[in-house]
Formats: sequence, structure tokens, C-alpha cells
Amino acid sequence: MGIKQHLKEELLYKSKLPTRYFLVNAKPSVVIDYLKASHWRYEYELIPRIEQNFTSLIKHFPQLPTLPVIFNLFIKFEVSLKIHMAIEEEGIYRKFLEQKNCNHSLEHVHSEEHEEPFLAEIISLIEKEPCAKNTFCRVLITQLKRFEEELLEHAWIEENIINKRIKQLK
Ligand SMILES: [Fe+2]
Ligand SMILES: [Fe+2]
Repeated sequence: MGIKQHLKEELLYKSKLPTRYFLVNAKPSVVIDYLKASHWRYEYELIPRIEQNFTSLIKHFPQLPTLPVIFNLFIKFEVSLKIHMAIEEEGIYRKFLEQKNCNHSLEHVHSEEHEEPFLAEIISLIEKEPCAKNTFCRVLITQLKRFEEELLEHAWIEENIINKRIKQLK
């Protein structure tokens, strides 16, 4: 990603208002539409972009053998995030829309997979790399940090709006 594109995204990011306050009082269908759109964007926009930048960074620094190892960790994160999102859409999102409580088996499956996949470890590993001050590496770190912040906000909404209301239905 070029620097110009990077600045454009930075502006877009800063202009975004916190959504949680709006969603707390929104209809269930609005909340679910928002969360599903976020899932889509993670899978088809953010993750491919980050993957691309990882690949060019690895090409740029072939002398750093740890970069492909960190990239592998990112791929693992990506796989567990995709599983996590699919389980949410089939489980709690549906229950929330129908305003029914989770049945026991569903809850069981969900609790095993419900650990939110986060990026903090991957970010701190890249920050320790000798290339960390390189512009392309900094762009990648910024992207990952933004993604992490978004995931935290997303998880807050799921925990405080969806899970809370489902528990209240019991
Ligand atoms: Fe989610
Ligand atoms: Fe989640």
C-alpha cells in the first residue's frame, strides 16, 4: 500500500464516530448487519491487504528469517478468526435476531471456540524486528494496530450488546 493510500485511510479512520453508543439502542437487525459487514470487511479487505504487505516485506528483507515465521502466525490467526466468525454468525447472531436463548449444545460448541482471536502478540513480535523502523514495516504495524483496535471494539459490541441480551433472556 502506498503512503498516499495510507494517509487516506488514516483520515477515514479518524473521522469515524464510535459506533458502540449508536448500536446499544439500535434494533437487533441493525446490530447484526453492522457486525456481519465488519466480518466481511475483515475477510475480504483488511486481511488480504495485510497479507499483501507481509509478502512484500518478506521479499524486501530476505535476510530476516523470522519474518516468514511471524507471517505464519498471522495465517494461523486468520484461520481461527474465520472459524470464530462463522460460528458467531450461525450461533449467537441468529439467536440474537430471533431473541431466543441459546440451547445447551450450541452454547457448548460456542464456548469452546469463543476465545476472541487477537493480534497483540504478532504486533509485538514485528516491533522487535530489525526492520521495524522501515517505512513499509511501519505501515504494516499501523495496519495491524488499527485492525486490533477494530477487533477490540467489535468484541466489545458482541459481549455487551449480544451476549448480555441473550443471557438476560434465560
Ligand atoms: Fe465477530
Ligand atoms: Fe467475536
